[in-house]
Amino acid sequence: MDPNELARIEVQRSARPVHGGLGWKYPGVEDFSSNLNPYGPPAQLAQYIDEARDRLIWYPDDHSTEFRNAICSRLGVAPDQVIAGAGSAELIRLFPETFLDRGDKVLMPRPTFAEYGYGCRLRGAEVIEVPLREDNDLRIDLTEMMSRLQGCKAAYICNPNNPTGRVLSRKEVLEFASECERRKALLFLDETLLELVPGSKDITCIAEVGSRDNIFLIRSLTKCFAMPGMRIGYGIGNDRIVRLMDSARLSWNLGQLEQHVGAKLLTDCYGHISKAAEMMGKERSRMAKEISATGLVNIREPDSFFFFGRCNGRTGLEMQEELLGQNVLVRDCASFGHPFEHYVRFSVKTPERNSSLIEAFRRAGGV
Ligand SMILES: Cc1ncc(COP(=O)(O)O)c(C=O)c1O
Repeated sequence: MDPNELARIEVQRSARPVHGGLGWKYPGVEDFSSNLNPYGPPAQLAQYIDEARDRLIWYPDDHSTEFRNAICSRLGVAPDQVIAGAGSAELIRLFPETFLDRGDKVLMPRPTFAEYGYGCRLRGAEVIEVPLREDNDLRIDLTEMMSRLQGCKAAYICNPNNPTGRVLSRKEVLEFASECERRKALLFLDETLLELVPGSKDITCIAEVGSRDNIFLIRSLTKCFAMPGMRIGYGIGNDRIVRLMDSARLSWNLGQLEQHVGAKLLTDCYGHISKAAEMMGKERSRMAKEISATGLVNIREPDSFFFFGRCNGRTGLEMQEELLGQNVLVRDCASFGHPFEHYVRFSVKTPERNSSLIEAFRRAGGV
């Protein structure tokens, strides 16, 4: 018997998406390849894990009540507008599982976070990609997106967009959401990187989501508390969207540790995020100037806290290897497809570590 013949056709054809965040493979190397809070997790993390240890003998609360209540208090949303996820990655998968059938069309920019297209294709949906143009500074072109919306069941926006690092304003996102609504399309809005952007409170669409019929927004504790090793995320939408997704959710998706740690971090450590955002907002212009001066990579100052740029005369992989020789890791962006094999992505960290990255670029370029 050949199990291949028994698998769904979409599974047979699928290839797993490629991600950055491979710092664990290179102990002792300074990791700029993933976009995490450079201050690391809050000091209280170990204590919170300790507090939850005795609870491991029980199944976790299937509704993640303690964690969801903490989200509601922190963000001013109602419990029935919140769903917890084992990382936002689980919710990225749950959305197409809830809403998409074979043959449905979805719209997204290219490049963007690979899990969206992967989850949709696994459901048999057709992914329509709107390429970002270098002559538009690789910004998401919402006018172009709107012109392609007809017949789509959902559109995806990542704000700031991974890997390009460009930010859309709240007004732009909401106008696009309204157009989606006119066309009867859902909007999947990924704000997992937004809290680390200076001024994010004026950009987030959280306050609007409850009153809209068609937005589902995701957030995560991964980036803002620098803890990708624990899988804690959440989604916010109006109660009808959330109820549907909750019906299709995996039982006990967040463990005891995740629920308790997530609740404590959101309740007691939220200032940890804005402190990092503010610091990175100051660092990014110095990095843009000094790294550009090496002539190795074409970058502009990002509106966010990570850079995305074309390497001069080398591929992203070659650039990554040269910089690894200087003990720093950047993300080779070949997995985003042509022409991004010539691009690298790297994040802003603390001033001292940023100086080591600048120095590594200088040495690699012989400057
Ligand atoms: C834009 C974006 N969204 C979502 C995720 C998923 O993160 P997590 O599952 O850790 O919340 C990532 C991870 O790299 C990401 O870059």
